[in-house]
Amino acid sequence: MSYQPSDVERQIELDFLRATEIAALNTLQWLGKGQKELADAAACDAIRGMFDLIDMRGEITIGEGIKDEAPGLFKGEKVGSWREGAPRFEIALDPIDGTTNVAKGMPNSLSCIAAAHADGAESPCLLDIPAFYMKKLAYPLAVRKAWIRDPKLPIDVDAPIDELIDVTARILGKEVRDVMVCVLDRDRNQSLVEEIRRKGAALRMIQDGDIAAAVAPAMMTSDIDLYLGIGGAPEAVLSAAGLQCLGGGMRAKIWPRDEAERRHLVSIGWGDRLDTQFMSRDLASGDQIVFAATGISTSPLLDGVSVRGTVATTHSVLMRAKSGTVRFIEAHHDLSRKTIHLRSTQAERRV
Ligand code: FBP
Repeated sequence: MSYQPSDVERQIELDFLRATEIAALNTLQWLGKGQKELADAAACDAIRGMFDLIDMRGEITIGEGIKDEAPGLFKGEKVGSWREGAPRFEIALDPIDGTTNVAKGMPNSLSCIAAAHADGAESPCLLDIPAFYMKKLAYPLAVRKAWIRDPKLPIDVDAPIDELIDVTARILGKEVRDVMVCVLDRDRNQSLVEEIRRKGAALRMIQDGDIAAAVAPAMMTSDIDLYLGIGGAPEAVLSAAGLQCLGGGMRAKIWPRDEAERRHLVSIGWGDRLDTQFMSRDLASGDQIVFAATGISTSPLLDGVSVRGTVATTHSVLMRAKSGTVRFIEAHHDLSRKTIHLRSTQAERRV
């Protein structure tokens, strides 16, 4: 691995973090207000406003999920200066992962961007999966290493749950009851939940927001060991980008909701990939990836925004695949002075 002082991601990464920070700050006004669309619009406005200030040729390759009819940043949108010679970036983002949680004032929401430096890339670095959902399994570095040593280990999305938990317990040196598995609380994940309970592992269910949950197994600061179940497809790619930086792993398989979606996927040429188990490196490839996220409300990954007097505190994580450096950044924003640049106003304004 060669470290170039001129690595573009290294120079620009803080700007992506600024974008998630101000998205979180601008969303705070909607916490608990029951207004999902307005919250999403506020986050998008802030991210677009920050992107307007970045010297890059950015293109949104994964925006709001096709399942979300949200006021979002969508695939194909060009962002940044687009100055000739400026670095090209593929961008996947979720301005708010956990929009319902924000609307209800509940925990587990964050703003998240993954960006891949794409100058010279021949194929997309961040794979746009044209489906609503994927069946996912995310695990820590130790589990990935064990699988690399012995690919016969039952570590995949279709592995029997009891075997997967047994092998994880063995690798992590834990009792089965201490293996903590996180699952998105949905009817479609109910049988999985029952299997985990039958096995006697520790279960943590979340209402929404599975990017944080899928990245968590690879974080040293989290006590989640496995993330399992069916959640959004764009969120799988964002999580994969984070896991590529952290060294943990993910397997994900397209999960068509019904026969109509299956037929649609076949008609657009994805029929041969319906049984593919994508690994994190298939969903987010290469090492020129940056992952930035800021907590809106507290999740297993990050604390949410808090305000005391005129100071707002944000908690973010910034990581880069090439170096594997993970930075936790606590920022104190003086609201009596801080301005943010929104796309809607095309000007700096107070938060
Ligand atoms: P948004 O906040 O972006 O809408 O996503 C929330 C979320 O819970 C994701 O984290 C998850 O992957 C997906 O929705 C699950 O989809 P659904 O709510 O349709 O089951």
